Amino acid sequence: QEQNEMADLLEPVMGRKVIVTGGTGYIGSHTVVELIAAGYEPVIIDNLYNSDISVLEGIRAITGVTPKFWDYDLCDSQKLEEVFRAEGKVDAIIHFAAYKAVGESVRKPLDYYRNNLTSLMNLLAAMDRHDTPALVFSSSCTVYGQPDTLPVTETSPVKEAASPYGYTKQAGETIIRDTIAARPAHKAVSLRYFNPIGAHPTAFIGELPRGVPENLVPYITQTAIGLRDELKVFGTDYDTPDGSCIRDYLHVVDLAKAHVMALRRMLDGENKAGYEVFNLGMGKGVSVLEAIAAFEKASGVKLKYTITGRRAGDIEKIWADPSLANRELGWKTEITIEEAMETAWRWENRLKNKE
Ligand code: WQD
Repeated sequence: QEQNEMADLLEPVMGRKVIVTGGTGYIGSHTVVELIAAGYEPVIIDNLYNSDISVLEGIRAITGVTPKFWDYDLCDSQKLEEVFRAEGKVDAIIHFAAYKAVGESVRKPLDYYRNNLTSLMNLLAAMDRHDTPALVFSSSCTVYGQPDTLPVTETSPVKEAASPYGYTKQAGETIIRDTIAARPAHKAVSLRYFNPIGAHPTAFIGELPRGVPENLVPYITQTAIGLRDELKVFGTDYDTPDGSCIRDYLHVVDLAKAHVMALRRMLDGENKAGYEVFNLGMGKGVSVLEAIAAFEKASGVKLKYTITGRRAGDIEKIWADPSLANRELGWKTEITIEEAMETAWRWENRLKNKE
């Protein structure tokens, strides 16, 4: 059954052109790799604000294909029009490009609203002008805030956003829902990510945090390799078994595959509504201390860390109920947290050797 499903997924879809905004980014680049493997033709638009053009070389090393790349800013609607005119028929868009640092969004709310919402609205307008029928939107579990009940389902209440970043995801979903409702022939899917971690098993692509990493796993691997003195664990006084915060960590390649399945669902007319939302998570909560233990087991490195006070804005615990994506997309995570940590560690070592 699983073999058939995978064979079905990889059934050649040659020539279907997919614009991937933010395609040189962390999740975007892993998704471009899976799109190529599934026979699509990805075209990347990325202004390299939070990524590096060397990622194209990593994609080529994995797939043998160097995807077409437009070094443009989606907020410039003239440039966007130039891309659509040059590319001809575009079957779908996967939209990753956005600012995504929670802390930074509190310091620069207008930059976040302008960038994240203008780029989305420009894309939606271009879809209409050029009749691009399908959009996959990179959303986030951050729309749920601290859920009242766990695990989180797609009908769990969306709460007052805890940051301007989180609000741009909520607003983005609403803008897409209302726009698609006004266009009978167009469809969209929002994918609400939990916590993506790890790197491609080849270690040719991975996470490239700018400056000091905000996220847990890159901070762990940078500490283990000696770039950081120690990891600070932001609080162990939460109402959880070991006192540290709980999250739903999933491997970035599993996450990337979900995008191909969501795209295929719409292009094959299997979607059950014009606009659909899916949670993408393992369905299992892992605490910060458990994540550290998983890294130590996977890498064989003893991690230096200290317990400090809580980080403002952190929620206590969240993990997904991924059963809707399991059922409707035929998607589930396959990579364990230990395997994910091993790929993160391999990638950190590759970065060190590149210097
Ligand atoms: C995970 C846990 C921290 C760093 C992220 C993104 C956010 C959104 C959702 C995209 C928390 C703890 C972390 C450190 C620590 N992603 N931690 N020491 O906060 O769940 O949010 O995923 O939409 O943009 O930030 O992920 O990796 O920052 O933190 O103790 O040095 O690790 O307190 O409990 P988070 P994270």
